Amino acid sequence: MSTRFPDEPPFSGFNAPVRVEADIYDLEVAQGEVPEQLDGTYYRVVCDRQWPPMVADDIAFNGDGMVMSFRFDRGHVDFKSRYVRTPRFEAERAARRALFGAYRNPFTDDPSVVGMNRTLANTNVFWHGGMLLASKEDSPPIRIDPDTLETVGVHTFDGALTSQTSTAHPKFDPNTGEMVFFGYAAKGECTPDIAYYEADPAGNLIHETWFQAPYSSMVHDFAVTQNFVIFPIIPLISDLDRIRNNLSHYAWDPSKDVYLGVLPRKGRVEDLRWYRGDTRFASHILGAYDDGRHIFIDTPVSETNYFPFFPDLSGAPYDPARTKGFLSRWTIDTMDGSRGFREERLTDHAGEFPRMDDRYETLPYSWGVMGLYEVPGEQRPGGGFRWIGAVDLTRKRTTAHYVGDASATGEPLFVPAHDGAAQAEGYVMAVVGRHDEMRSDLLILDAGRIDAPPVATLKLPLRIPYGLHGNWVTTAELRQGQ
Ligand SMILES: [Fe+2]
Repeated sequence: MSTRFPDEPPFSGFNAPVRVEADIYDLEVAQGEVPEQLDGTYYRVVCDRQWPPMVADDIAFNGDGMVMSFRFDRGHVDFKSRYVRTPRFEAERAARRALFGAYRNPFTDDPSVVGMNRTLANTNVFWHGGMLLASKEDSPPIRIDPDTLETVGVHTFDGALTSQTSTAHPKFDPNTGEMVFFGYAAKGECTPDIAYYEADPAGNLIHETWFQAPYSSMVHDFAVTQNFVIFPIIPLISDLDRIRNNLSHYAWDPSKDVYLGVLPRKGRVEDLRWYRGDTRFASHILGAYDDGRHIFIDTPVSETNYFPFFPDLSGAPYDPARTKGFLSRWTIDTMDGSRGFREERLTDHAGEFPRMDDRYETLPYSWGVMGLYEVPGEQRPGGGFRWIGAVDLTRKRTTAHYVGDASATGEPLFVPAHDGAAQAEGYVMAVVGRHDEMRSDLLILDAGRIDAPPVATLKLPLRIPYGLHGNWVTTAELRQGQ
């Protein structure tokens, strides 16, 4: 059987699988100069299918993880990309075809792979305990060699990970070096069980608490402060009967409320409190902090489900106007006896992929950056994230950088200018697709002057699929891990 991808949007045009593992020594700098003091590596992961899908209407999230690195050294940048050799990748490569079926639906798999780890490790790549880990939320992470990007193997914290899953959005406490994370669907696909963990700076598990959510749903991200951990339950529900009947893993149930599950850091299940709110869609958390009593959580919020490929159980058609996400603040008062929370919109620029200066994770902070698909008063053709927005939370002011015609950006990332730099003193990096040229650029912007021309534009001779998340690891951190 010949390898041929469907002529459908998830698999064609700029989104067509690239299927190239590349090494580019010293990227061309098309404009500006790369700051010489940047000494570290920007790791990212994207979805890039190795094989045509087994099911016709499969979704982009079901693509193989391709990890890439931009290594900065004295004003020069080297690029590398490698597929994550998951057990699934290796099985499919040996067969020269897809063996795993629909997104998070093991009932659609080829009989030869029943019971095998289904992860694609395609959502985030992060550094902890001297290890580079690529992760998708349906499985434990996969350890990657930070220099060669070769796959080391499935990482289960030396067998201590009791959950079947592990989030792609762990949080890092800058005061303690601890990694705070969780697994949802922790007892198997569509189960309401959540396992909350903390790991010490060396990567050893030091805390574990299990509980059940009010209903089974996608718990893609969560919020962590110095004193609390908050689990948002939004009505993108999952149900084993759905996937047994060949329906999508998730569906939007607007009859359900939002619940925020609040635990004290390292708390036990008896400490868990649920705070209820009206139906909302939210996915990524920009940041969160607390003052001992109030918890502040900043996240883009929309009226309804953002993902067009997960249906609305009420039968409502997909309405793009109602899916626009606006960065908003959820405030919980843990002492007033209420079981609700307040919501306040922070910007009128619609967008997603919010990132902060990660040195302020869990702490009071005042700045963030995100991809924008709408800027008030500006009309630009095309789709996707066409601006990079810097949000000053103190002044509630958003400044935008337009990435160019026939272009769109992936998740922007903040990188400090140097050790000891002030909050937001540094650079914003983003991989931007140039659709007319069918290739990508890496933009380096001044975080303090996001609307100025780029500090540097690095020209990639190849196309990088619109992927998900990434992180900066300093060379000093990498050396500590070796
Ligand atoms: Fe994410």
